[in-house]
Amino acid sequence: MRSTQQSRLSRRAFLRASAFAGAGLAMPTGWIAGCGSDDSGEIAIPLEVDPNTPWFLQNNYQPVHDEVTETDLVVRGNIPRSLDGLYVRNGSNPQNSDNTHWFLGDGMLHGVRIRDGQALWYRNRYARTPLFNDGLNSMDGGAPIRGNNQSNVSAIYHAGRLLTSGEVGFPYEYDPEDLSTVGVHDFGGNLNTAFTAHPKIDPATGFMHFFGYGFGPPFLTYHVADASGELILSQEVPARGATMMHSFAITETDVIFWELPVLFKGELFASTGWPFGWDDDFGARIGIMPLGGPTSEIRWVEIEPCYVFHELNAFREGDDVVIDVCRFDRMMDGEELGDIDSLLTRWRVNTGGDALSFSDQRLEDQIMDFPFHDRRFTGRANRYGWFTWVRRHPDTLDFAGIAMRDHQAQTLERYDPGPNSHCGEAFFVPEGSDEGDGWLLTFRYNRARNTSDLIILDAMNVARGPVAEIRMPRRVPFGFHGLWVAA
Ligand SMILES: [Fe+2]
Repeated sequence: MRSTQQSRLSRRAFLRASAFAGAGLAMPTGWIAGCGSDDSGEIAIPLEVDPNTPWFLQNNYQPVHDEVTETDLVVRGNIPRSLDGLYVRNGSNPQNSDNTHWFLGDGMLHGVRIRDGQALWYRNRYARTPLFNDGLNSMDGGAPIRGNNQSNVSAIYHAGRLLTSGEVGFPYEYDPEDLSTVGVHDFGGNLNTAFTAHPKIDPATGFMHFFGYGFGPPFLTYHVADASGELILSQEVPARGATMMHSFAITETDVIFWELPVLFKGELFASTGWPFGWDDDFGARIGIMPLGGPTSEIRWVEIEPCYVFHELNAFREGDDVVIDVCRFDRMMDGEELGDIDSLLTRWRVNTGGDALSFSDQRLEDQIMDFPFHDRRFTGRANRYGWFTWVRRHPDTLDFAGIAMRDHQAQTLERYDPGPNSHCGEAFFVPEGSDEGDGWLLTFRYNRARNTSDLIILDAMNVARGPVAEIRMPRRVPFGFHGLWVAA
């Protein structure tokens, strides 16, 4: 890693040189010049939703079916020279276009290879799972366990392997050179549960901490893989039911689970197309245990029922464990995802007494999710967080732009891509050594033009807009989680 001073100088020089946003540099034909927004000057087009089609099968949620390879992509602005690697994003892309829930499509990776200020190629590839190969929808292949899952949620890089996770079964491995599916990765036959979509890599050790949840006992199992990728620990966590546990968190010394009242209820699938639902009687609690186990030492504290897909980060402040989460008041209780607000909330659990105590505080009123921190600070106190902010819409989930929260200044700075554009999760790629020195990469879709770009933002100045926009050769549907794999 370069020194901070060097990094700042080079980043400043780069930003001066690349400042097409507002600098009035000549644009390639077909591009609209403007203040960092691909939409500048555009008239807002209403985002219409056909009530006869599920929202997750229309607009830019609609899947694409062909697998494309395109080289030498058109770039507007300047791609930072320091970026040498692969940006890849996973998502749900049903090959049959008749799936019953946004989360239940076949996994598809969209990848862009970047080097020397150029975008060398774009590829999109399906996850070649047995379900995909047999043309089956998610629940038609039996229980979605082991390799029998669509691997459509996230991408992870650990111990030299590019993996995807569908959270309900084993991960799949891919070749980062061409995004072809290598196959199921079961840690040499040692993994015996599902693999979360959100493992945590401890920046101090390179160990990957993760868990799997089950539809039956064991409901929750904690795992650790060492920096070489060997599975060195698998221990059952005493849980009280089969909940949909989408993520968890670590600090330098703790593992934190949240057991929330969205339960596996297989009978729901026939009526709703989705096998999880809210339970008024289950309660909700946070569990804290030592990093690395043993799971028998977990302690729980009850909290008000709510739901959380994603945490920003967690860290210790003395006896307090602080977890920043995107919190919903409820989930899967008959509503649609766009009906409920995801609001940044700080959970604080005091571990000093015989029993844990809990308090919480709303940090922002802006609806936002897909939180992201500088992963060099995973489990450590972080000053900055990045999010995708959401416009309220009665009939669909309307992603808008990117926001950066500064916890110290208590400010929220926003990149607004314009009324017709929508950004996904922003993945942070570090460059210097200070927290926040680096770039954000995300796909942005413009529905007026039906085009997608991979955009690159200065992570410390998101409001300025992209420093580079890479035109995709095709529309990239909305998806879930991305990843940068450095060359
Ligand atoms: Fe997620």
